[in-house]
Amino acid sequence: MKIMICGKGGSGKSTLTTLLARELNQRGKTVLVVDADESNLCLHRLLGARMPDILMDAMGGRKGVKEKLTPSALQNPETAFLKDPLTLADIPAACLAEADGIKLLVVGKIQRFGEGCACMIGNISKTVLSRLRETANEVVLIDAEAGLEHFGRRVDAGCDLILCVVDPSYESFALADNVQRMAGAAGIEVAYVLNKVNDAIRETMTTRLDAKPVVASIPHDETLFTQSFNGEALDGNPTAVEPIIHHIETFKKPINFNVL
Ligand SMILES: Nc1ncnc2c1ncn2[C@@H]1O[C@H](COP(=O)(O)OP(=O)(O)OP(=O)(O)O)[C@@H](O)[C@H]1O
Ligand SMILES: [Mg+2]
Repeated sequence: MKIMICGKGGSGKSTLTTLLARELNQRGKTVLVVDADESNLCLHRLLGARMPDILMDAMGGRKGVKEKLTPSALQNPETAFLKDPLTLADIPAACLAEADGIKLLVVGKIQRFGEGCACMIGNISKTVLSRLRETANEVVLIDAEAGLEHFGRRVDAGCDLILCVVDPSYESFALADNVQRMAGAAGIEVAYVLNKVNDAIRETMTTRLDAKPVVASIPHDETLFTQSFNGEALDGNPTAVEPIIHHIETFKKPINFNVL
């Protein structure tokens, strides 16, 4: 199963990705975390992993990616990890870091002034995710960049479920509407996770979401905040993500009639 974690900047996407990865791993799933955020640098720290080689660099940088992602090159890819279908085992070992059994793949980062836009990084994510065929015991968690760009690039098309993190801000509610619209257009289920919530605001947030499906509500947690502040691995309270795990474990992939 492939799950995209999206939401407003700073809403808690990377935190939720890490907590879910830990809990799914605890329950015996093989977890691949895909860092699809072209700017932020520290997801590996939250996971307690080292920074692996960046996939875009391993593909030969912008020049190499341009050559490898042309329609004709994609029909007959030289590299195993661009084949269709591809498996987790096809991802180059140097591009995977591992912590407590959780694997981390970093797609690409903007590293130099004037190097070009992030579209290429989005294209790698889109290609890899659409070709990746995980087994029933494998879960792929994609930590998206903030906002909606991944929808614009159709990266979500290769995913089964979208989790939209909503923090207590007006901007987050507005974004939640757009996520619902775009996930609907992509034909992908979206579920909402309230984050940094306290008892006083939980009900108001749910009302503001206007009957959108909320699967969990994660309280503001000072320990999570401090661990993140210090660049430490997170070991937050797993009960907070329990309802999301249940949603994942009971999720039924819709039948794609296009492939029948
Ligand atoms: N439940 C929580 N309780 C307390 N602090 C939290 C919680 N969730 C996230 N935070 C804090 O909010 C900040 C942003 O979290 P995080 O980096 O996970 O967000 P993000 O959506 O991935 O941000 P970005 O858009 O920059 O990638 C961090 O300081 C993190 O520790
Ligand atoms: Mg993040």
